[in-house]
Amino acid sequence: MINAIILAAGKGERMKSDVPKCAFPILKKPMINYILDTLKKTKVDNRVIVVGHKKEVFFEMLKDEEFAIQENQLGTADAVKCAISKLKDGITIVLPGDTPLISNLLINKLLDLQLKDNNDMTLCTMIVENPFGYGRIIRENNKIKHIVEEKEATKEIKEIKEVNTGIMVFNNEFLKKAIKKIDNNNSKGEYYLTDIINFAKDISSYTLDDPNMLMGINDLNALNIIEEKLEKEIKKNLINSGVYIINKDSVTIGPDVEIAPGVTIYPNSFIMGKTKIEKNAIIGPSTELYNATINENVLCRQSVVYDSTILKDATVGPFAHIRMNTIVGEKDRIGNFVEVKNSILGVNTKASHLSYLGDSEIGNNVNIGCGSITVNYDGKKKSKTIIGNNVFVGCNSNLIAPITIEDDSFIAAGSTITDNVEKEDLAIARSKQINKKGYARKYK
Ligand code: UD1
Ligand code: CA
Repeated sequence: MINAIILAAGKGERMKSDVPKCAFPILKKPMINYILDTLKKTKVDNRVIVVGHKKEVFFEMLKDEEFAIQENQLGTADAVKCAISKLKDGITIVLPGDTPLISNLLINKLLDLQLKDNNDMTLCTMIVENPFGYGRIIRENNKIKHIVEEKEATKEIKEIKEVNTGIMVFNNEFLKKAIKKIDNNNSKGEYYLTDIINFAKDISSYTLDDPNMLMGINDLNALNIIEEKLEKEIKKNLINSGVYIINKDSVTIGPDVEIAPGVTIYPNSFIMGKTKIEKNAIIGPSTELYNATINENVLCRQSVVYDSTILKDATVGPFAHIRMNTIVGEKDRIGNFVEVKNSILGVNTKASHLSYLGDSEIGNNVNIGCGSITVNYDGKKKSKTIIGNNVFVGCNSNLIAPITIEDDSFIAAGSTITDNVEKEDLAIARSKQINKKGYARKYK
């Protein structure tokens, strides 16, 4: 069996944030989810996440994971010890939770090296320009002898540029025995996992040529560097695949976004989560998409779309807000200052100006006049509005939910509709107009 232990119990004090470090978002995706997603593409078949500081945040976020709990953060060796009982026989890769951009290729390479050499352990090192903060690798005759942490390093050792990535693979029998031998006789009084080296007879090692992606994220500065690198990479790949991004530096795209060739993205757009955009859609300028599905030929300008789907040939915006499980239908037109929440709209339906449509089901060829709203909330509960096909809702109407407006009916402008409207009926609900002869002249 191939196990993984992900270390995520630390406070991450250097982040100066209330969010536990490994849950901190990078391009709106929690740091630890990067590793978990990557692990799915590797040979690892059993994984345990060590949590401690603010562990509830992780329980809430990761429903199907196995956790080991480290009550007090006594160091990385202590964290590993907490997970030992959950390991299956075989080998184990230990991954720091603050190194999110490790690749599946590297993980598999290290696992293969451990399986092939069958030594006590395999260590992944890297050469960095600025080794500050990392454990330095001490070699004798090219063999790894010790790892010295920043705090323990002499001036000489601090000069060493080969450092520990924090990623190690162990033979489980060795790991179980050696982990117990590590003490906390050091300046931090912590159990350092790096001291395990001192008990290994033979160590395989792999030194990375491109250390860029394996920077440990200890503060917001490092997070920024990683985030920018990742972001550049994402956009480069999209552009290579045929996505046209205008003024790309102003556009931000998350790691799980899928965009088809032939899509155009205009400046200042922010596209995150599991958003999917199909060919020939035009997004932006200044559009925010989060977990949005945007079908072919959709035009979405200066708008916000969250957790919703826009079907093909629809137009959204400028300045629309679509949210919470909404489906905007084919060829629909959602115009300026229209908010649509938790609603399903049919084909060729229009709400072109200044409307709120919430908790509603609206059919095909419906016209929602300017300023009309579904009144879905009575201060206590939310109710549903159902509108059939070919309905004309005149401007500035209030549809007081729960309510059903049947097919082919017509709501006169300015109505406040409290009762259902039947098929083909005209509903008018407003006070009658009175014109008083010559009164204006008298008044003035
Ligand atoms: C660690 C390594 C260092 C390496 C660097 C690579 C040790 C002692 N040092 O240092 O050699 O160069 O990573 O980035 O291992 N954690 C726990 N429980 C604890 C302490 C830490 O779960 O009691 C977790 C943290 O949440 C973090 C990871 O372990 O995800 C690494 O801890 P961190 O404090 O960031 O170690 P570094 O000082 O970066
Ligand atoms: Ca770290």
